[in-house]
Amino acid sequence: MQNVAWVTSVALMAGVAGVFVMVAISARSTADYKIVVEKGYRLRKIVFGVLVTTGVVACAGTLGRLPYAQAAQEDTHQIVNALGYQWYWELSQETVKRGQPVEFRVTATDVTHGFAIYDADLNLVTQTQAMPGYINTLHHTFDRPGTYKVLCLEYCGLSHHGMIAELTVSD
Ligand code: CUA
Repeated sequence: MQNVAWVTSVALMAGVAGVFVMVAISARSTADYKIVVEKGYRLRKIVFGVLVTTGVVACAGTLGRLPYAQAAQEDTHQIVNALGYQWYWELSQETVKRGQPVEFRVTATDVTHGFAIYDADLNLVTQTQAMPGYINTLHHTFDRPGTYKVLCLEYCGLSHHGMIAELTVSD
């Protein structure tokens, strides 16, 4: 989807640049100004129509696929409350099911921590901040079972590196 958006953006930018060049060239010639203006207006109408159509199509095609819209559709989601302390994590449950959406409700008791979930190969899977006074919700559906690690992504003091919890994703 990002590729499509990127190519579309580049194409539209090229189109706009093309119009600029055309206007610059026709402004230099001694052509009848009225004809140029009529041509420009016609072109502008076409470009505007294309832009509006593209916008409407892009919105209709992508808005329904937002993560929040997806999360709302599936009501079988599991909720895990995550609390950050100096210097450990407290999870309301340490096992979640594969293939079912998980909603992490993340907060902190003392200072800001970074709630980051890594897979068995220590690749970052998903993350959000754990802040005192706020509950940040993080939606994720685990595709693969296994043992995941929760690490802290925000320097929070002496034993920041020691904030490690385990999360098991079961089949
Ligand atoms: Cu908590 Cu770094």
